Amino acid sequence: MSLLKRPPICPYHGTPLVLSHHGTKSNTGSPLIEVRGAPIRYCPACLAQGRDTSVEAEAAASNAFLRKLERLIESSDFPGELQRPLVQVDFNPRRAEPPGPAGGVIYSAGGQPVAESSEAGESIGSFRPRKPRHSLDQLVLDVDTLGRIREAVNVLLAQDLLFDVWNLAAVARTGRRVALNFYGPPGTGKTLAADAIADLLGREILTISYAELESKYVGETPKNIKAAFASAATSGALLFFDEADSILGKRLTSISQSADNSINVARSTTLIELDNFDGVVIFASNLVKNYDSAFLRRMLAHVAFRLPAAEQRQAIWQCHLPPQLPLAADVDLTELARFSEGAAGGDIQNAVLLAASYASMRSGAERVVALHDLERAISFILDGKRRILDGSE
Ligand SMILES: Nc1ncnc2c1ncn2[C@@H]1O[C@H](COP(=O)(O)OP(=O)(O)O)[C@@H](O)[C@H]1O
Ligand SMILES: [Mg+2]
Repeated sequence: MSLLKRPPICPYHGTPLVLSHHGTKSNTGSPLIEVRGAPIRYCPACLAQGRDTSVEAEAAASNAFLRKLERLIESSDFPGELQRPLVQVDFNPRRAEPPGPAGGVIYSAGGQPVAESSEAGESIGSFRPRKPRHSLDQLVLDVDTLGRIREAVNVLLAQDLLFDVWNLAAVARTGRRVALNFYGPPGTGKTLAADAIADLLGREILTISYAELESKYVGETPKNIKAAFASAATSGALLFFDEADSILGKRLTSISQSADNSINVARSTTLIELDNFDGVVIFASNLVKNYDSAFLRRMLAHVAFRLPAAEQRQAIWQCHLPPQLPLAADVDLTELARFSEGAAGGDIQNAVLLAASYASMRSGAERVVALHDLERAISFILDGKRRILDGSE
């Protein structure tokens, strides 16, 4: 699916982005694959000003190709002394040199670039978008939730038609901005979905955890929120606010404690920034009953993430068992799905790791993951969760 049938527009200059064959692409994270060239679209005026507004052309297609290649390498046997090959992928061999303007610019609080591709990661308020690591095909959801995600994503995919050709820009209160709220219990795939949507859109993702912002940078939260929006506006990254519960709730009217006040300030800052932003924002929260109506009005859609039913649990077990993991013959996914009632995808992910660790402690023919390992691991995780929720611990 190409997102770029019509060239995207530079958010600063309003001019169509120009196709360049000099783009660079960071790879999927596989140490075995090195990616050299990937065509990008960029704004020459921004480039001259040292600003990076480039987007990768056909990112979803090249990402999908790289993932396939990675799976192929991983699932192939290399005999004897031979090692897995290091594969160099050049998406546009004749025109890949020299490297283009795409690259990691880091933005500090206030939106000023502080460094180009340096390791400033931990400095207060520096926000660097990253490439998505997941794709929609890794997300197992019920038909209803998946349908809602697809509908919301289509607004993004069809933006040029909707806003420019059909001129909905004239009536859309929120401009081109699309804000979504994903809510549901922990471990049900909200973070994974945000990542996969960025991947589908060929954008980077910038994740901000409100909980972290509030605890780590006391008094600095509004500045950091502004920096995050500035970085996303410039890089075109999808902005993902994780653990956004406190921010989405109703504003507190009686301010008795300064901590409450700081939540209100963060909330107003987010609303103001949201109104000036025309990119993609996703909020993730647990079920919030008391949404602030100011946020409600600004969201295009609320998507509920539920605990997976047996059918989805089976698929989630399946996709968390890599082909290299030695499994005993008795591992039966239907049985596991039945046994793991009440488990979220995140619990299944943890159970596989735990079960594999049980198996790793054995030797010889016993060193395989058996059904009882997986059942024991998921029981252990679910029992722990139940005890905490019951308050018995
Ligand atoms: N619906 C799902 N489909 C596939 N995997 C899932 C799903 N939900 C959770 N997982 C697994 O659990 C991990 C953690 O889920 P995450 O997206 O962080 O949940 P949340 O953000 O809702 O707390 C994922 O990376 C994935 O491995
Ligand atoms: Mg999450």
